[in-house]
Amino acid sequence: MQKAIYPGTFDPITNGHLDIVNRANLLFDQLIVAVVKSPPKACLFPYNERLDLAKKVTKNIKGVEVLGFEGLVIDFARQNKADVIIRGLRTMSDFEYEFKMALTNKSLAPAIETFFLMTQPQYSFISSHLIKEVALLGGDLNKFLPEAVFDAVNKKVDEGCGWKNN
Ligand code: COA
Repeated sequence: MQKAIYPGTFDPITNGHLDIVNRANLLFDQLIVAVVKSPPKACLFPYNERLDLAKKVTKNIKGVEVLGFEGLVIDFARQNKADVIIRGLRTMSDFEYEFKMALTNKSLAPAIETFFLMTQPQYSFISSHLIKEVALLGGDLNKFLPEAVFDAVNKKVDEGCGWKNN
């Protein structure tokens, strides 16, 4: 049985991430969406809300589970007996960062492979950071976000929220 994890900050989870989840789910027997607890960047959504939104928008996708994690991604993969780390590649600018991360993980855990899926063109320019910026400046995010996430982002904007570290 091939088990994969798809780790990320998911601040918040977008249609671009969901596209990767759906496609990876067709390739592996089990898929865990792994939400990192303390990413090295400021977040709009605290950890519990990033986790809840990821759970909400994947709840009807059979074979997909959402879990949170702390520490190294390879330790989380080992604990969950996963063989593969999934990452989405959008543009050339993703490549260098992803390449370094994949090589670091490979040298720490040679048995675990990183598997890249090319993002579909309609999602290739989406990033959580840009989505938050558009939202805070009053732009329409309807086509970039699942409905529950769209509502949650608008609520944050109405509350006048900024970026948080955890
Ligand atoms: N569609 C839309 N957006 C996408 C996307 C896709 N398919 N794929 C990535 N993104 C965006 C994210 O929204 C995010 O945007 P932002 O930077 O504007 O917020 C950006 O691309 C990258 O985010 P993400 O994919 O969540 O990765 P990350 O760099 O935030 O997190 C981890 C990477 C969690 C996998 C990494 O930090 C990690 O493994 N941490 C654990 C500690 C560890 O093991 N460190 C050593 C690693 S070598």
